[in-house]
Amino acid sequence: MQEKVNTLVKNATEKIEKANNLNELNDLRVKYLGKKGEITSLLKSLSSVSKEERPKMGKLLNEKRNEIEKLLKQKTQVINEQKVEQKIKEETIDVTANRNKYTQGHLNLINETMRQLEELFLNMGFDIVSGPEIDTVENCFDDLNSPKNHPSRDLTDTFYLDKNVVLRPHTSSVQIRVMKEGNLPIRMVSAGRTFRNDEVDDTHSPMFHQMECLVVDENVSLANLKDTINIFIKNMFGEEIKTRFRPHYFPFTEPSLEVDVTCPICKGKGCSACNNTGWSMELLGAGMVHPNVLENCGIDSEKYTGFAFGMGVDRIAMVKYGLDDIRLLYDNDKRFLEQF
Ligand code: PHE
Repeated sequence: MQEKVNTLVKNATEKIEKANNLNELNDLRVKYLGKKGEITSLLKSLSSVSKEERPKMGKLLNEKRNEIEKLLKQKTQVINEQKVEQKIKEETIDVTANRNKYTQGHLNLINETMRQLEELFLNMGFDIVSGPEIDTVENCFDDLNSPKNHPSRDLTDTFYLDKNVVLRPHTSSVQIRVMKEGNLPIRMVSAGRTFRNDEVDDTHSPMFHQMECLVVDENVSLANLKDTINIFIKNMFGEEIKTRFRPHYFPFTEPSLEVDVTCPICKGKGCSACNNTGWSMELLGAGMVHPNVLENCGIDSEKYTGFAFGMGVDRIAMVKYGLDDIRLLYDNDKRFLEQF
């Protein structure tokens, strides 16, 4: 019997050593220590051992049993540790995984258009200036030579925060700020939000965007104004696009003009987008800076002349991207935005 026990333990030790996983170990536990296991059946067969031998053999079997138990326990621990290590190896974080899960967005068309315009003017040697969205009545109207009874001053047109402070109804207030700083010559553009008490429809929004342009120097002429506008329109919309200058009135420029461009959809032939006129809706107001405005800002109007224009950025974006409703720019509908 002694020999039997020794071979059994030897086999068991080898098999446990070789086991690769918890299932195999469990099978071995059943094989040796289970109810019908080999050690168990040896223990049962003790009755056939002589009385003298029995206690000795019993003790030995119990010892061996504990030994196998211990081996199983140790091996279980080893396998569990290997499992953890394996897991750590397999679960290293791949920082490049799922890289297509979030696609990159882009600027809203308004901001995109403002950046394009700014870059264009920057390349022509203009400075980019920013001005506040809340400004004084003095900067928005008085110093711009606006008569006290001008309709744009009305509550129905301009949002007043108090008697002397408004949400700027145009970016022309930035002209005044820059001229008052007094660093001549001036070549600047300034884009940003503007506000008017307008009902929302397909071409109007109470909050919209403008870009102002101002040049003040000696010998600045209307020809310079037309040339600058033509260059920027062709750069923005394409060489084939023509401009049309119509006489207009603004308190702060003399003479004053409004500028249209050929409809970029039909290229001037006439279509439903331009009401068959061949011309897009008016894009900008322009003119030679009124001498009163120069003087209001402390600039000698005998020595200096200037031109200015202000354009609707939203309208530029609408013409450029062929939109028939300004609200598309503000709805934030992904289905629309993703097309660009
Ligand atoms: N401020 C004018 C407007 O909002 C546009 C303009 C700017 C006209 C500069 C002339 C010169 O309509």
